[in-house]
Amino acid sequence: MLVGLEYTNLKQGRAHLTKKLKTALICGCTHDPYLDEGLWGAFCNFAKLLKPDVFHRNGDIFDFYQISRFSKDLERADAMAEDREVFFHHEEMIGKVLPKATIKIASKGNHEDRVYKHILYSPDVRASMTNFGMELPTWDSFLQLDKFGYDVRDSEGIRLPRVMYGDLAVWHGKKYSQYAVAHNVRKMGHNACNHTHRARSWACVVGGHNMYGYEMGHMADPRLATDYIEDEEDWQQAFGVVNFDDGGYFDVDVVLVKDAGMGKRRFSYKSDYWEW
Ligand SMILES: [Fe+2]
Repeated sequence: MLVGLEYTNLKQGRAHLTKKLKTALICGCTHDPYLDEGLWGAFCNFAKLLKPDVFHRNGDIFDFYQISRFSKDLERADAMAEDREVFFHHEEMIGKVLPKATIKIASKGNHEDRVYKHILYSPDVRASMTNFGMELPTWDSFLQLDKFGYDVRDSEGIRLPRVMYGDLAVWHGKKYSQYAVAHNVRKMGHNACNHTHRARSWACVVGGHNMYGYEMGHMADPRLATDYIEDEEDWQQAFGVVNFDDGGYFDVDVVLVKDAGMGKRRFSYKSDYWEW
């Protein structure tokens, strides 16, 4: 697989020097423990070949189901630490295949925000932990992201964190409507998000310049979370590959996961494909 050619042969037969781009592999909305196991296995194989400069978990890393207002499964009410073991297993899988030099970034999503809200609205929990001299948990301390070598991006004031790849801002996303991608481009210019769980791209001219927006889907298995996903959702599984440089340039591939017949699933990148 070729990512960023150093030399490109032009039709005239001349060798033309081009700058090598950096690559970021971006996965959002994995919602562990609801992550799609088959997809994650294939994704790890892909990451091993891609050797990205940056691996970015773009929010909703963990579902935090038990502290959600949607939580209604009594049997799972006390299983958040158990669910975290599933996340650890998936994190170890990706950790094994990424090059040591790969920078790992973890951004906060709205599901991570549940930890803050849970602590905020539970004065009794807060008081007793403080009395016992215990530190209040945060989403990233619960997931032990420090141990896994992540550069953690928490809220910037009231905004969700934005990470720049060239002129592209990657953030978790906020709006959920069908028009979210268009809204985001008009409001903030070049950007890529997850949150909506849809996979889309959109471009329009703002102030005389073309602006590009992307929604990079999700990586969960909705069949695992039927306790709160009741109807068929308009969602697509996908992840993002962003090539960029320090001069503002970026290009985004939203890699779609599709049915491949005979009950199999597949995604492809360039001319390679991964199937399970
Ligand atoms: Fe999500």
